[in-house]
Amino acid sequence: MAYKDIYDSWKADPEAFWMQASEAIDWTRKPSKALFDDNAPLYEWYNDGLVNTCYNAVDRHVESGHGEQTAIIYDSPITQTKREISYVELRNRVATLAGALRAKGVEKGDRVIIYMPMIPEALEAMLACTRLGAIHSVVFGGFAASELAVRIDDCTPKAIIAASCGIEPGRVVHYKPLLDGAIEQASHKPDFCVIFQREQEVADLIEGRDVNWHGFQYGVEPAECVPVEGNHPAYILYTSGTTGAPKGVLRPTGGHLVALNWTMKNIYNVDPGDVFWAASDVGWVVGHSYICYAPLIHRNTTVVFEGKPIGTPDAGTFWRVISEHNVRSFFTAPTALRAIKREDPKGEEIQKYDISCLRALYLAGERADPDTIEWAQKVMQVPVYDHWWQTETGYTIVGNPAGIEALPVKIGSPTLPMPGYDVHILDEDGHPMQPGKLGAIAIKLPLPPGTLPSLWNAEARYLKSYLTTFPGYYETGDAGLIDEDGYLYIMARTDDVINVAGHRLSTGAMEEVLASHPDVAECAVVGVSDQLKGQVPIGFVCLSKGVNRPHADIAAECARLVRDRIGPVAAFKLTLVVDRLPKTRSGKILRGTIVKIADSDTFKPPATIDDPAILDEIKEALQTIGYAR
Ligand code: COA
Ligand code: AMP
Repeated sequence: MAYKDIYDSWKADPEAFWMQASEAIDWTRKPSKALFDDNAPLYEWYNDGLVNTCYNAVDRHVESGHGEQTAIIYDSPITQTKREISYVELRNRVATLAGALRAKGVEKGDRVIIYMPMIPEALEAMLACTRLGAIHSVVFGGFAASELAVRIDDCTPKAIIAASCGIEPGRVVHYKPLLDGAIEQASHKPDFCVIFQREQEVADLIEGRDVNWHGFQYGVEPAECVPVEGNHPAYILYTSGTTGAPKGVLRPTGGHLVALNWTMKNIYNVDPGDVFWAASDVGWVVGHSYICYAPLIHRNTTVVFEGKPIGTPDAGTFWRVISEHNVRSFFTAPTALRAIKREDPKGEEIQKYDISCLRALYLAGERADPDTIEWAQKVMQVPVYDHWWQTETGYTIVGNPAGIEALPVKIGSPTLPMPGYDVHILDEDGHPMQPGKLGAIAIKLPLPPGTLPSLWNAEARYLKSYLTTFPGYYETGDAGLIDEDGYLYIMARTDDVINVAGHRLSTGAMEEVLASHPDVAECAVVGVSDQLKGQVPIGFVCLSKGVNRPHADIAAECARLVRDRIGPVAAFKLTLVVDRLPKTRSGKILRGTIVKIADSDTFKPPATIDDPAILDEIKEALQTIGYAR
């Protein structure tokens, strides 16, 4: 069947479509129906089914005779380590880890925070939690202790599983002191912490609170898989919103299994047994869905890569991994390719490797710029598919379903909506817009299985952030247009979220940090275009009356504050001290106008601007650091 037939069949009878897709999952008790809409506009899926995520990702493959197949390939150029773990080994390791967690009191519904780098143990920790029905929340290693503390207080974990350290080029990230600092800052205290000691750094354990990963598993009874209801949360993943407080996106168990499994063949075009690689991090949604869960649920081999696209050791690393491990489908962020292209524009490194095993490249996480797509097509000689999705959905909203039918690519568009998603462009009042017209991208409710049913402990915020602006629709936060052929184009965010090297960050959170600087009276943070990272943040600060210190010192302090409070991942390096910020007469800071000036785009100052002369001051300030040309 062609894409259109499948999409139309979903639209004609979504219930039948999702019940059929659910057949690929092993349920302890099959659900009687797919959609539960009694609480509309809050929707849930497969509520009365009983199922276990870890069983579907691991045990069932061992039971069906595939125990010897490699489940995980760990390839770490940064530590010069390689290792393979078969499905049977993975089952045994995860069952023992889950048994040890259970022996210390972790049960279904308890939260567990995981703070680990790109090592197989991170996946094992995730799977051990879902084996017990415990709800994990993975925190990205590039966040600072205070971000970890906020998450500890929000999800109140019974346990935290962490590694002693992570390794970044040129430095060791000391996870343990960050963890200790976070627990000290947080009001909630976990009962215990499990520490995986890496060779590169052995951390001091706190007597009575910390246990050693290996030691605490000694002699325990392995745990069986605990069946949970279809709508039981598999995990919470925090993501940035408009304000500083991150949103705890909930992932429901049943829909997650069904939908992710569906995507592996239909979108990524891999069959069970094939090697699939997503070069992301377990701390992000791509890592949850496509390093850990989807490939394992679908019995693929997944690659856990601990390294960078360049410098570990060179711009040929990605090609080596693809060639050496026989990767069929590869997923990365455009920024990674831009980094490679900058270092090796002619694609000389790729000539050293045979990547004929590769069928396609998939890009997501940020806008894929035409230059990068064309360069990738040229050097890699495979189709390049952009696809658009969000932490909230957990998988593709709009993409190219290569496993059904490779649709013609229009560069600049992630192509067409996947079954489950009815995507519309709306004007400010919620009216549908004509093809080609720019507006807010909204998805008609209900969202499909596996997408967020709500936010952890924050239903009112869920309703306000996503369901209120356009009744009957989910508001994506992205703006764009749909052309005459139905192809979607993503143009910008409608909120204060920016995308730095494929990482989703909140400028509001950075503003909260800058505002806490004792000399700062007022501030604004905007995301400006960057050739490598897509966007980078720039801070504008107005100083309190009477402050007379060197601006360079204040700028350096601002950078340090953001790094310490949010983390290195914010890549916050630039602060400009200005006298005034451009505002409307009602006092709203014109962040969008500042971005246009910085990016040297043409713009018309809004009619409501208070004092247009301030724009010239902003432009001059930006020119001192090479922007606004
Ligand atoms: N733990 C601790 N620190 C981390 C980290 C982690 N897991 N990941 C990144 N950081 C740090 C980096 O070391 C860097 O610190 P520095 O300021 O001391 O140099 C900072 O956070 C910014 O990192 P990043 O934005 O990744 O920039 P970079 O200059 O180190 O590398 C790229 C640039 C393009 C090579 C890199 O961003 C990259 O590989 N991006 C791919 C992104 C990706 O896969 N995203 C997944 C979303 S789908
Ligand atoms: P995250 O939740 O971190 O995955 O970030 C989701 C956001 O990243 C989206 O709302 C978009 O703003 C942006 N994004 C993700 N994929 C794409 C894409 N293919 N094209 C343009 N923007 C994208």
